[in-house]
Parts: sequence; structure tokens; C-alpha cells
Amino acid sequence: MAVIEDQPKGILPAPAAHTLRRCIRHLCGLVLDESRDYLIRDRLLWVIDKYQLDDFVQLAAEIDKGLNQRLTNDVIESILTCETSFFRDPHIFEAMRSHLFPHLFKTKEVHHSPINIWCAGVSTGQEAYSIGMLATSFLEPPFGIYRSNVSVLGTDISQNSLAIAREGLYRSSEVDRGITRDLRQRFFSQEGDHLRVLDDLRKMVSFEHLNMVNHFSHDRSFDLILCRNVLIYFDQEQRQKIIDRLCQHLSTQGYLVLGAAENLYGLSTVLQSVRYGDLLCYKKYLDG
Ligand SMILES: C[S@@+](CC[C@H](N)C(=O)[O-])C[C@H]1O[C@@H](n2cnc3c(N)ncnc32)[C@H](O)[C@@H]1O
Repeated sequence: MAVIEDQPKGILPAPAAHTLRRCIRHLCGLVLDESRDYLIRDRLLWVIDKYQLDDFVQLAAEIDKGLNQRLTNDVIESILTCETSFFRDPHIFEAMRSHLFPHLFKTKEVHHSPINIWCAGVSTGQEAYSIGMLATSFLEPPFGIYRSNVSVLGTDISQNSLAIAREGLYRSSEVDRGITRDLRQRFFSQEGDHLRVLDDLRKMVSFEHLNMVNHFSHDRSFDLILCRNVLIYFDQEQRQKIIDRLCQHLSTQGYLVLGAAENLYGLSTVLQSVRYGDLLCYKKYLDG
């Protein structure tokens, strides 16, 4: 099999690589240094074929002009890393189950107020459905919160990922990797070698398109925001902007949960770190 570099089309000259890196950062925040040029080559070669361009030089010029929205979308979709799974990093979900959720649900019960949860950078939906399954176990005594009072919003820049999330149809092998037999029986129905998320859970979860690099606003604030394994792809400047925006949407006493290997080190924020078992999360004590 010919390696990509052997094809004239597959050669990525330094100026084209530079332009593509700059445009990708501008479009979706993703920061790629020169050591990731192989990623650009591997993931974008098909775009050159699809739009019948000559090479990466022409692709870089087209992206830079920004006139072809479909081509731009194809580049964004191809360059994103959308890896995810049900109950990814189980110890984080376990800490939410045993510490954070009881706290959250007890506080909300006292005030009879809804619980709004947001998964920012939700990819193909597994994270939002996992949170929904977890929340469902708190809809029983001793907690007095109704199902209709809990909502989970998943957002992502990737329209392709969101289409999969909304469809809620996953390979059985993938579901089995992350969840127990009980959860599988309770929340999924079998469709051939796939499993579909049942309506009960789907009603709690919704999905919207959102590019976090751009200014964004929601009509509500959130009691819990998960932004896991997203900030790692941004530089410090973008991270600061995104954390500021997430903070604005976090209710007072609300929680922010990042990925297992992520933290707010070096960022300025009103949030304070709180440790619950294996989970290091952030809490907003003050308005603002
Ligand atoms: C590695 S996945 C993480 C998925 C999930 N949060 C998890 O931890 O399993 C990163 C997700 O962030 C999304 N993403 C990257 N840049 C983004 C942006 N500028 N705005 C919104 N989502 C973005 C990607 O599309 C991708 O689905």
C-alpha cells in the first residue's frame, strides 16, 4: 500500500501546513503544532479528493478564503477527535454518584427547583446518556425530584457527532463495554446488533450545536457542567475564554467537572476546587 507522503497530493508544504493550522485554530480552537502535521495529512487528504483540488496548497487557500462552507465543515469534522464512551472514567461517575449527585439533589429538593445539567463537548452522546442514567437513580425516594425536573443538554461543534447522539443508536459491543446488564435492560432496546436508547431516557436528554470558541449564551444557568476531555485541545488563551463563558452559565453553588487529567491550573477563575473521593471538581460559591 502506498504511504500518503509518496503521493504528490499527499505532500504538505510548510506554508500550507501553517495556513491550515491557523485556520483550524480559528474555526474550532484546536491547536496543532508542527509535530501534528501528520494528522492534518492523514485526516484531510480525502477532502482534497472530494472537492477535486490539486493538493494541500489549494486546500489551504480554499480554507483561508472561507467561501465554501461545506468544505470548511468537512475539514472541521475530519480534524476533531470525538473519542468517547459510556461512563468514561468510571471513577468519576462513581464519585458523582456517591458525593456530588446526593448533594445536588438534596439542595434542589429543598427549593423545588429544576436540575439543569450540561455536557459541553458531548461528542456522540454517550456522556449525556450516562449522566441521564445516573440522574434517574436519584428520582426515587429518599429524593423527591420529578423526572420532568431534570434536563441534560449535550452540545458539540460536530454536526456528525450530534446526529449520532440524537439517533441514540449504538453498537451492542460498545454499550456493553461501559454499562451493566441492569442498565442495558432498563434503558436500551435491541435492534439487530445495535442498542437504541429508550424514550424514557431520551426525553431527559437533548442536543444542540455549539462552537465554544464563539460567543454563546443559553437561556438558563446550569447546576452541573461537564466539559471533559475538550480543553486539552485548546491553548491557554482559548481555555481561559471558554472557562469564563462556562462560569457565566454556572449557577451559584453549581459544579464544573473536567476530564480526569484536566484542571484549571494557570487560569483565573472564581471557581474553587472541591474533592469528592476520586473526583476533583470545581464549585461556584459566588455570583458573577
Ligand atoms: C474527546 S471528545 C470528548 C467527549 C466527551 N466529553 C468525553 O469526555 O467522553 C472532545 C469533543 O469536543 C468537541 N469539540 C472540540 N472543539 C470544540 C469546540 N470548539 N466547540 C464545541 N465542541 C468542541 C469535539 O467535537 C469532540 O466531540
